[in-house]
Amino acid sequence: MFEQLDGTRGFANASSQHHEAGRQVAEQIERARSTVARELGCVADEIIFTSGATESINLALRGVALANAQHGRHLITTQIEHKATLACCDSLHDEGFEVTRIAPRHDGRVDPADIANAIRSDTLLISVMHVNNETGVIQPLSEIAAIAEDRGVLLHVDAAQSAGKFHIGLSQIPIDLLSLSAHKIHGPKGIGCLFVRDRPRLRIRPLTFGGAQEFGLRPGTLPTHQIVGLAAALELVSRNRDQDQKQVTRLRAQFVEMLSSRVSLNLHGALDVTSPYILNFSIPGISSDVLINQCAADIAMASGAACSSGTVEPSYVLRAMGLEGDALYGAVRVSFDRYHTPVDINVAVDVITEAVKRIKELVA
Ligand SMILES: Cc1ncc(COP(=O)(O)O)c(C=O)c1O
Repeated sequence: MFEQLDGTRGFANASSQHHEAGRQVAEQIERARSTVARELGCVADEIIFTSGATESINLALRGVALANAQHGRHLITTQIEHKATLACCDSLHDEGFEVTRIAPRHDGRVDPADIANAIRSDTLLISVMHVNNETGVIQPLSEIAAIAEDRGVLLHVDAAQSAGKFHIGLSQIPIDLLSLSAHKIHGPKGIGCLFVRDRPRLRIRPLTFGGAQEFGLRPGTLPTHQIVGLAAALELVSRNRDQDQKQVTRLRAQFVEMLSSRVSLNLHGALDVTSPYILNFSIPGISSDVLINQCAADIAMASGAACSSGTVEPSYVLRAMGLEGDALYGAVRVSFDRYHTPVDINVAVDVITEAVKRIKELVA
């Protein structure tokens, strides 16, 4: 079974360099590391394999904060980050760090000037996401990176929604740390990596302690099949990037055009600044949980809502963008990917249109 998963004599441990089987596995891991590095535009030793973006983000934020606390105790992030970042910042706040959370503008983009204004003499790190997971809004990374470099502050980017799908080019853009997960690009779950730029100023404290794997930053036996899967997925998605982007952009446009001709539709996040892989919208008068329930058998839709103490809390991302009322409580997210076809889009639009009709009849 294992041999089918990774195509190697996979029972061996990559850390066991005194026998051939161990050396073969180690070679495969290093090949995968080089592939990931080539696709991201960095060098192999700058890639640390982790269990996914959540762990990478924690390693980046907690790692930098705890290793450099004597130089400063201030971090900057945004109000629309994934919980992995926000909860990690909360934990650092509880441990005596100060965190500035920048609000986005109404279009979901963070103004780089707001980040520049938040930088203090004790700021250690800025953490921003590249593409938002709820709205698809793309943040102005180049401008933010230029500010961080100019002001001598480290920059971490959560690229869970963008790595592979968008060209990032770490050799051209001064990002210090970058997190990603394989399962966002059809790779296996439970594997991701953290890019850590090789520069003398960048010190990180590990989250866990043990062996010397992953340059001492992430101890534990390496999951060969997961790592090989991550590299294969990243290579594949990068190879087809332009073609996939065009196809997915067409599919999303078809969806918007067809659905808006049948029901009234509000889009959250202007299409020209959002990833074509994500669409966030609301239908006036229809709440997200009702629409999601009505379509659940046929379409996987999500709302950024969270259920706490029996009440539905709407998306903090959309709330931070200033949405309220129907738009806030009706917002749903759909995703598009390389495996969808125009026929899938027709079916999805039919399913939503029928659901809206049923809901309107019920409340009439
Ligand atoms: C933007 C973003 N960041 C971080 C994560 C966390 O990734 P994972 O659950 O793979 O650790 C996700 C997952 O949904 C995400 O969309």
